[in-house]
Amino acid sequence: MEKFDNVVLNSRAKYGQFYTDPNVGRLLVSRIETAAPNSVIDLGAGLGSLSMAASKKWKSASIVSVELDNLSYFSSLKGNHFHIYADALDYDLPNKIKNEYGEFDVALCNPPYTRPLWKPEYEKILEEAGLSETRGVPKDGRAELLFLAQNLRLTKNGGELGVIVPSGIITGERSLDIRKKLLDNYCVGSVVDLPRGVFSNTEAKAHILFLKKSSPYKKNIKLYEVKKEGGV
Ligand SMILES: C[S@@+](CC[C@H](N)C(=O)[O-])C[C@H]1O[C@@H](n2cnc3c(N)ncnc32)[C@H](O)[C@@H]1O
Repeated sequence: MEKFDNVVLNSRAKYGQFYTDPNVGRLLVSRIETAAPNSVIDLGAGLGSLSMAASKKWKSASIVSVELDNLSYFSSLKGNHFHIYADALDYDLPNKIKNEYGEFDVALCNPPYTRPLWKPEYEKILEEAGLSETRGVPKDGRAELLFLAQNLRLTKNGGELGVIVPSGIITGERSLDIRKKLLDNYCVGSVVDLPRGVFSNTEAKAHILFLKKSSPYKKNIKLYEVKKEGGV
């Protein structure tokens, strides 16, 4: 995790604006198993790599992106895309958008790897997703966990998530507890190890975590590796 701490400390990107390589966006979307989702959410959508890949793959799905930074642009997205300028970590976000979009079939996310100033409502977000009281997670919690939890709250039962997480969540000793909670509460399907250099301006190491919002039923979790020269 040291790498990420340094990234946060040294970064001029105050919201964690390390944008997703479009190839990674396409890879993530290509490995989602849901054949024809009606609705897809992209929290912290940045420059829209995930939303764009989603709208290309699922032409009739509603794609909803949420982003705090008003510099984002989504010019190449078509009519099925709805952009919300909002705080993705607002506890009430699911209620606010439920009437219009319902719960989502698929959540795609490349969260910021920052440490937002702790708010009491964050505990409720983690709690509702079954990820609270995690050993080693201080009350200045990691944005990636909060985003993961918020995505779980926004996704319908049986829905699917593909989230780009710092590798520490997958391999770090400090994240043992969070891995246990994920494995106990959700169906983790596979993990894709990404090469360094997939984000602009940082060498941060990340994995894509694929899981379903359903009870665990898979015995083996497949681990894939993306080669630097391409190919999985
Ligand atoms: C790693 S980047 C995501 C990149 C994006 N997938 C892309 O295609 O460029 C994380 C994004 O989350 C946004 N962000 C950070 N905190 C946020 C918040 N509380 N609510 C909404 N967006 C947030 C940042 O502005 C940034 O664009």
